[in-house]
Amino acid sequence: MERTLSIIKPDGVEKKLIGEIIRRFEAAGIRIAAMKMLRLTKAEAEGFYAVHRGKPFFESLTDFMSSGPIVVMVLEGEDVIRKNRELMGATNYKEAKPGTIRADFASDIEKNIVHGSDAPETARTEIAYFFSEMDIC
Ligand code: TYD
Repeated sequence: MERTLSIIKPDGVEKKLIGEIIRRFEAAGIRIAAMKMLRLTKAEAEGFYAVHRGKPFFESLTDFMSSGPIVVMVLEGEDVIRKNRELMGATNYKEAKPGTIRADFASDIEKNIVHGSDAPETARTEIAYFFSEMDIC
């Protein structure tokens, strides 16, 4: 059993896609093991995306990620890191496969609806950024 962190970004919440995105996860056999809604401060968004510090899109990305409420979830299942990335689609919605969350709902490379951890080590770090072991069912 593997775990990954999923975030419904401010644009996904704004577009009222919380239910639709959770429905897709559950329909794919993924279990929601923890979930909460919160709003990141600018500093918290910078901490979460620390690997991108210095990149041209960092300022704008962290402004966006702290611009409104987000929903953070721990997803659990077999091969869930890859499965979630497949459901999300490519970072750039223009390159995302039809039927993926980003292809269906994103309209901007930055405002791309969802985040998902990309590897086991980042999944561990990102889950720990938002949840303690006690929060995870
Ligand atoms: P990244 O971790 O490369 O993508 P993903 O979210 O698919 O794992 O980038 C993090 C976020 O940064 C991405 O979701 C959107 C934003 N971003 C841009 O705004 N411009 C860019 O050129 C890239 C690569 C990312």
